Amino acid sequence: MAKPLQIEVYNPNGKYRVVSTKSMPGTRWINLLVEQDCRLEICTQKKTILSVEDIISLIGNKCDGVIGQLTEDWGETLFSALSRAGGKAFSNMAVGYNNVDVNAANKYGVAVGNTPGVLTETTAELAASLSLSAARRIVEADNFMRAGLYDGWLPHLFVGNLLKGQTVGVIGAGRIGSAYARMMVEGFKMNLIYYDLYQATRLEKFVTAYGQFLKANGEQPVTWKRASSMEEVLREADVISLHPILDKTTYHLINKERLAMMKKEAILVNCSRGPVIHEVALVEHLKANPMFRVGLDVFEDEPYMKPGLADMKNAIVVPHIASASKWTREGMATLAALNVLGKIKGYPVWSDTNRVEPFLDEKSRPPAACPSIVNSKSLGLPVSKL
Ligand SMILES: NC(=O)c1ccc[n+]([C@@H]2O[C@H](COP(=O)([O-])OP(=O)(O)OC[C@H]3O[C@@H](n4cnc5c(N)ncnc54)[C@H](O)[C@@H]3O)[C@@H](O)[C@H]2O)c1
Repeated sequence: MAKPLQIEVYNPNGKYRVVSTKSMPGTRWINLLVEQDCRLEICTQKKTILSVEDIISLIGNKCDGVIGQLTEDWGETLFSALSRAGGKAFSNMAVGYNNVDVNAANKYGVAVGNTPGVLTETTAELAASLSLSAARRIVEADNFMRAGLYDGWLPHLFVGNLLKGQTVGVIGAGRIGSAYARMMVEGFKMNLIYYDLYQATRLEKFVTAYGQFLKANGEQPVTWKRASSMEEVLREADVISLHPILDKTTYHLINKERLAMMKKEAILVNCSRGPVIHEVALVEHLKANPMFRVGLDVFEDEPYMKPGLADMKNAIVVPHIASASKWTREGMATLAALNVLGKIKGYPVWSDTNRVEPFLDEKSRPPAACPSIVNSKSLGLPVSKL
């Protein structure tokens, strides 16, 4: 028999058994569960990615809810195990839930939570950091310096791209894509072109107003355009950042043909999900176009990179840290815990998942609601009137 995984237990006599497959930042989420009569078990096993079998053993015979991670495969097997253990709630500690088979959860009547809103600015800031780092070749220059190669100022040393007046392209202008667009437009006075299935009205209004402000101050106004196709963005933009959800329509959205449409000196940033880019095609494109640069937070086969990517000087690679600010990670843990707790307690679902601030205010008690349940309609869950 396999050895049991290491766990840390809080409030052993609690009425409801909640399992967290990972230790998460902060203590508020722990306190909130414990105060509400939960026995909390946190898996502390030194293993980065838990297997389905590991999680089945954590669920055991009686489990009211699980807080899990985007690296886990939440499908038929896990939802049936959770349901057999009497569980009715699961929450990802993530806004994206492409690792979750929501139909399987529906079949077993399990609510699936996610953590929108609290990651928006932090993720957009990482996308902006990667854009700047690529434009100004920060990582290459840092490596050069540390290697002791700097022997004096030179006119050609690490010449990069000026962003001001260039065009930023956003594919997927939802919460994060819009926040990123605003940063690049407002911070660096870039013009915007975006592609999304829906109109980003608030973003358009913001860029219009900012353009008018600049004009009134005697500066060149910024502009925006909603592209009728993704290809239009790829052809026109100088910096392109990807922010769609990962589903069938966005899998390998950036492939060989579409890379070829982009400007030779363009910058491509991906802080969405790895499979949105065909990574093998990207490596070939980077090899053939040394002035084309990428900033990647996510990879097709995490934790691995496709062969050749690590050797490319025109690629900046970071290990899926886009949401990694203290405030955001603690907030994600809180929202995930409250999703599970709310379902266990029979609370309604919060009416506006884009407005999760009341749950994050540490000075007051969170509302008696589940912050964000993605299958609330399918399960017919009541909605909060607050
Ligand atoms: N790297 C990270 O750590 C990290 C952190 C947070 C979020 N994310 C990823 O970012 C994604 C977006 O998060 P969000 O909060 O902005 O979600 P969101 O739902 O607000 O935005 C996603 C947008 O993508 C658009 N979209 C969907 N299909 C599309 C298509 N085929 N073409 C163009 N646009 C399309 C949607 O209309 C929507 O506006 C998440 O689903 C997650 O996968 C990654």
